[in-house]
Amino acid sequence: MNKIGIGLIGCGTVGSGLIRNLPHANPLLAERLGIQLEIRGIAVRDPSKPRPSLPVQPISDWKIVVADPSVQIILELVGGTDEAFQIAEACLKAHKPLVTANKALLAERGQELIPLAQKSGTPIYFEASVAGGIPVLKALREGLVANQLLGLHGIINGTSNYILSRMVEAGSDFATALQQAKDLGYAEADDRLDVDGIDAAHKASILCLLAYGFLPKFSEIPVEGIRKITAQDVSFARQLGYVIKLLAMVRPIGNEQIEVRVAPTLVPALHPLASVHGAFNAVGLIGNLSGPVQFTGRGAGPDATSSALLADLAEAAKNVRDKSPGPLFPKVDRKARLIAPNDSVGRFYVRIEVEDRPGVLAQVAGIFGSEKIGISSVLQPEGHGAGSVPLVFLLESASVSSLQKAVALIAKLPNTRQPAMIMRVEDLT
Ligand SMILES: NC(=O)c1ccc[n+]([C@@H]2O[C@H](COP(=O)([O-])OP(=O)(O)OC[C@H]3O[C@@H](n4cnc5c(N)ncnc54)[C@H](OP(=O)(O)O)[C@@H]3O)[C@@H](O)[C@H]2O)c1
Repeated sequence: MNKIGIGLIGCGTVGSGLIRNLPHANPLLAERLGIQLEIRGIAVRDPSKPRPSLPVQPISDWKIVVADPSVQIILELVGGTDEAFQIAEACLKAHKPLVTANKALLAERGQELIPLAQKSGTPIYFEASVAGGIPVLKALREGLVANQLLGLHGIINGTSNYILSRMVEAGSDFATALQQAKDLGYAEADDRLDVDGIDAAHKASILCLLAYGFLPKFSEIPVEGIRKITAQDVSFARQLGYVIKLLAMVRPIGNEQIEVRVAPTLVPALHPLASVHGAFNAVGLIGNLSGPVQFTGRGAGPDATSSALLADLAEAAKNVRDKSPGPLFPKVDRKARLIAPNDSVGRFYVRIEVEDRPGVLAQVAGIFGSEKIGISSVLQPEGHGAGSVPLVFLLESASVSSLQKAVALIAKLPNTRQPAMIMRVEDLT
């Protein structure tokens, strides 16, 4: 039996979950792959902190763990992009394969890390960085490797999905649903990464890298979160036959452009994505040969993340044992670039608050018409606050720039009140 030495850097929520799950996974790995994983070093920020029993005494200096000759693979579970980058760089210099769950590191510093990994000829395994227990990166790397990807979309942040599900199921407003997510431990005290779409955008970048060999510049990805969604929007979406989800979209536009975005999006109530509730994730892929494929499962949490980490550790260990280089980042020469956000084309939901006067609907509809934007549905409910009514439009396909022009003209009408609420609509056919 081949015993492979693992160095664990970071032993918080995910790291301690892995330590708990390893003794149960090892007999399966022995039976199925003929390998055993053995933790031979652990580094944490504060070794004096009380924690459940660990297989080795933790230390504070991760460099000692990386340099330990009995450690063959490093598992980075520190998080963030600074210290984690230094750890990754040290592993690559030492030619020790790196396994990580750190999506921020890959999405924000992948442009620096990938060339280092290529130069070193050392693999980085990162299945756990996207969609927790769903083996979607492996599906892209292996099962769908002969397909051209026509596009992919996903609900890849469980916290936002939990909040939106509460808003749909219990009619909660955003603030109440966010508090419930915090009370249940789904949302961090600092909720910005989840609720403002940044975590989903990190994962969308990684999916783009795997699907199209192109890692977008992170700061150029258009990202919108879910804070502005009201209980009213959830109800209007339902009346129109849709459900609001925080959706990541990645798709090629022609030969050289790729669209990557994260935004609250109306998806048809009958589409399988609409029934992905609570903290679950889902990723849909469309291969030219496979057709549509959808994965659903737990997107985070120590057990689901352990599933992905153990799979990566097993693959890394097998490659170490077999002296195989493992999956290296391909040198991609592709001249891809992100589509400019204003050039993006799609359907939109627009809610405008207007004074309740005759003729306003015709004025607003006239402006959409003047910008050549078709209207597929309108809701004009009665009985809203003093003298103001919401007007809700579901629009036909339009570019972001023409929509913005129309909305700016509508805002100048004497009878409009607040800025328009705009969301994407994806029919996902
Ligand atoms: N939580 C999830 O469900 C989940 C799911 C998928 C991916 N991830 C990713 O997994 C990674 C870890 O997340 P987590 O939730 O486990 O974080 P966490 O609970 O905050 O744990 C971080 C760990 O890193 C240690 N650490 C911090 N700075 C260090 C340093 N300089 N040297 C050595 N150790 C250091 C901390 O030590 P102390 O214990 O002494 O503080 C702690 O053990 C992140 O990249 C996250 O995005 C998390």
